[in-house]
Amino acid sequence: MVPAESTMAGERARRGPVLVAGAGGFLGRAIVQALVEGGWVARGLTRSPDGLASVERLGGEPVAGDVLDAAVVRAAAAECQAIVHVAANPGDEHGDPELPHRVRVEGCRNLADAARLASVPTLVVGSGYWVYADQPGPIREESRVDPQGESRTNYETELLARTFTDLDVRIVRPGMVYGDGSWLRSTLTALRDHSYRVIGSGSNAWSFVSLPDLGRAFRTVLEAGAPGNVYNVVDDEPRPWGEFAAYLADRIGCDRPASCSTAEAERIYGPVVARHLAAARATSSEKLQRLGWRPVFSNYRPGIDDLLARISPNSDPTRGPPAPR
Ligand SMILES: NC(=O)c1ccc[n+]([C@@H]2O[C@H](COP(=O)([O-])OP(=O)(O)OC[C@H]3O[C@@H](n4cnc5c(N)ncnc54)[C@H](OP(=O)(O)O)[C@@H]3O)[C@@H](O)[C@H]2O)c1
Repeated sequence: MVPAESTMAGERARRGPVLVAGAGGFLGRAIVQALVEGGWVARGLTRSPDGLASVERLGGEPVAGDVLDAAVVRAAAAECQAIVHVAANPGDEHGDPELPHRVRVEGCRNLADAARLASVPTLVVGSGYWVYADQPGPIREESRVDPQGESRTNYETELLARTFTDLDVRIVRPGMVYGDGSWLRSTLTALRDHSYRVIGSGSNAWSFVSLPDLGRAFRTVLEAGAPGNVYNVVDDEPRPWGEFAAYLADRIGCDRPASCSTAEAERIYGPVVARHLAAARATSSEKLQRLGWRPVFSNYRPGIDDLLARISPNSDPTRGPPAPR
């Protein structure tokens, strides 16, 4: 357990700092917010002006820098009680093809080296539930893995992190995180322009979690998790992909998505992503819930309703198929 700093009686504890690498990203923002709400000083490492502004707005301490710059990471880790790694780079076809791997894996090594130098005991590594094989549920933390595509990079980051036996390493595997951005935003866009497709009837189970619940889950892992452990972060009800897509379409008032063959999906999404989308991953977060975390939204329906009531449909024009996780 990461200890709180002692405080005057009646005063709210100020704990930390916790360094969050990737603090300006989809997951990072929710983690910073949850840490700040929990009384932690959230030090957010991010490169972009937008990411820095977001950390500041959320009440964290913005630090401009690249997770691949060891000196910057070392300075940022000074006096921290823990480090969270959710920096990721999806890459693009014109950029350095090694960058996605480097940001996750080399970034993890830099953060671990900085932790040792600054005597930071705890490293929490974000991964994703796409590391699991397509299998009947419930998927638990020890279930079979079959990491493909981007989830391979997440899994390699996990494997590297597990070699840091001198650090208290904890691994977090979120399911499909829905919030205003990332794959959910691009799914809404594709539903609206009728380009979204579900393979067959989409009867395979996905597992979901709302973005604020995800942020609080990282905080729980930090505060109550045990060294060397993996924690799934999903709500209580895995649901079929096709049902989810139809629900989204109904809620935004457009046609339900047509189905397609596996071959067509491979053309639309690429072969690896198509396999992930078609996989059954009914996952359990029982282990995390034993630490005291409970999702506010026990299934995606109230969570999606809440989200759609809060977001502006045109706030993010991101297009394209969901990104692999
Ligand atoms: N989105 C989901 O539903 C989901 C679900 C499960 C697991 N995951 C996993 O969670 C991780 C984070 O995903 P995400 O959706 O939050 O991605 P994201 O929105 O792209 O955020 C990642 C952040 O990392 C930062 N970053 C990139 N390169 C960096 C570098 N060299 N140094 C420092 N920061 C850097 C970027 O911010 P700057 O450009 O400002 O630096 C970016 O905002 C990934 O491993 C992903 O597979 C995501």
